[in-house]
Amino acid sequence: MVLLDGRKTSADIKDEIALKVKEFKDSGKKIPHLAAILVGTDGASMTYVSGKVKACELVGFKSTLIELPKETSEEKLLQEIEALNNNDDIDGFIVQLPLPKHIDEQKVLLTVDPDKDVDGFHPTNVGKMALDLPCFLPATPFGILELLERYKVETSGKHVVVIGRSHIVGRPISILMSQKRLAGNATVTLTHSRTKNLKEITLRADIIVAALGKPEFLTGDMVKDGVTIIDVGITRIKDDSKKRGYRIAGDVHFESVAPKSAFITPVPRGVGPMTIAMLLKNTLLACERKQ
Ligand code: GUN
Repeated sequence: MVLLDGRKTSADIKDEIALKVKEFKDSGKKIPHLAAILVGTDGASMTYVSGKVKACELVGFKSTLIELPKETSEEKLLQEIEALNNNDDIDGFIVQLPLPKHIDEQKVLLTVDPDKDVDGFHPTNVGKMALDLPCFLPATPFGILELLERYKVETSGKHVVVIGRSHIVGRPISILMSQKRLAGNATVTLTHSRTKNLKEITLRADIIVAALGKPEFLTGDMVKDGVTIIDVGITRIKDDSKKRGYRIAGDVHFESVAPKSAFITPVPRGVGPMTIAMLLKNTLLACERKQ
């Protein structure tokens, strides 16, 4: 069993990006600048956003964090987005999800300039992705492809089973892995909460992407020997024995699945750090494209 080490791989990618930033600096080019908008004080969202800002510092990017109170109106948020769209120094930005219930997420995503949409959530980028056109790929699926590629996991002709049809992970990774591309050319089955006989399907999978958001859902009896497992889950579970008061669980029951796996991502230190690295990669790309 080989651990797909997202922490190590993301550190390698960040080193590569930092080198590029140094080249930009030395040749007098613009330094990439990423902005993030965070509405409210959700604990997990605050952790993710601060991780993104820290990663910017590490590679030498400029970063701007815009923190808005949870009662911020939709109109005010849209104004902040327009200001970032029109700010020439900002190469890319993200609006951290989920948003408070009184704000229409679709409207927000549509307001982001597709050329600055480094999350790849704007319909223009989603459409381009589906058509194999150059675009910003959403960071988590992009990170999964990169991890599979760097560990030379064979995907061509393999049966990939994706569990979960979210717009952020399940749907895009199912499209990407079926395409003619690196870490692609797979036969993909996209499963979800209405799928019947899921275990029959997962038992036939060469690669499983678990992205449904239910801690330790995929168990050893549901997978065949030699499977490759990508665990996208990150759920906080109350645990008083931990100083923080919680532990992080993936969507995969690691203890029973790992012994049957050829490759498996751990949680934490698997897909999570890759997401941040790929957001930086998209921001670098946005900055390069502008020049
Ligand atoms: N919430 C969960 N994942 C993501 C992500 O990749 N980007 C943003 N903006 N919000 C998220």
